[in-house]
Amino acid sequence: MVPERIELRGRAFRLFVRRDEIAERVRALAEQLRHDYAGTEPVCLIVLKGAFVFAADLLRQLPLACTIETIRARSYGAAMVSSGTVHIEAPALELRGRDVLLIEDIVDTGLTLQELVRFLEAQQPASLRIVTLLAKPAAHHLGLPLAYIGLQIPPVFVVGYGMDYAEAGRNLPDIYAAEPIAEGQSGL
Ligand code: PRP
Repeated sequence: MVPERIELRGRAFRLFVRRDEIAERVRALAEQLRHDYAGTEPVCLIVLKGAFVFAADLLRQLPLACTIETIRARSYGAAMVSSGTVHIEAPALELRGRDVLLIEDIVDTGLTLQELVRFLEAQQPASLRIVTLLAKPAAHHLGLPLAYIGLQIPPVFVVGYGMDYAEAGRNLPDIYAAEPIAEGQSGL
C-alpha cells in the first residue's frame, strides 16, 4: 500500500506521482532516447544528487554504448526555494566532440541547468541535450535544450524518487508534493 500522506521533518506531503506512472514515463523517455541516440556513443551525465534514482532506471533501459559520468550541482540546501546560487562540482570530463546527454530529476527555476549548460558548452561537446523527469512552467522561458521531459508539473515542491526535502525523502519510491501551510502555522 502506498501511503497517501507522509510527514518529513515535520512537514506534510501528499502522494503526487505514483511509482507506476513514474515507470511509464521513464519507459517512454527511454524509447525516445533509444531511437534518437541509436548508433551513437553519448556521454550520459547524471546531475547529483537528485537524479541518481531516475538515471539508474533510465540508463538500464538504454542499450547504448554510452559512457556514464556524474556532476554535482546544488542550490537548494535545506530550503524549498532556490538560493539563487548554483554550486557545481565536476570531475575532469572529456566532452569535446562528444554527444552529451544531461540527466536531471527536475527543472524548477531552471537556474541549475542554465549554469550547467554554460559550464558544459565551454567544453565544446558535439551536442548537448537534457532529459528531465519533471519540469515546472518557469523552465520554459530560458531557452534551455530541454529535449526530453517526462512530466510537466505545476509549481509545487516535490520529494521522493531521488528528490529531497532537507536531505529527507530521496529513497521514497513515489513522488510526494508539499501540502500548503495552513494560515497561522509557521513555515519551515
Ligand atoms: C535540485 C534538483 C535540480 C535543481 C532544480 O537540486 O535536483 O538539480 O534543484 O532546481 P532549479 O531549476 O530551480 O535550479 P538541489 O540543488 O536541491 O541539489 P540535490 O540534487 O543535491 O538535491
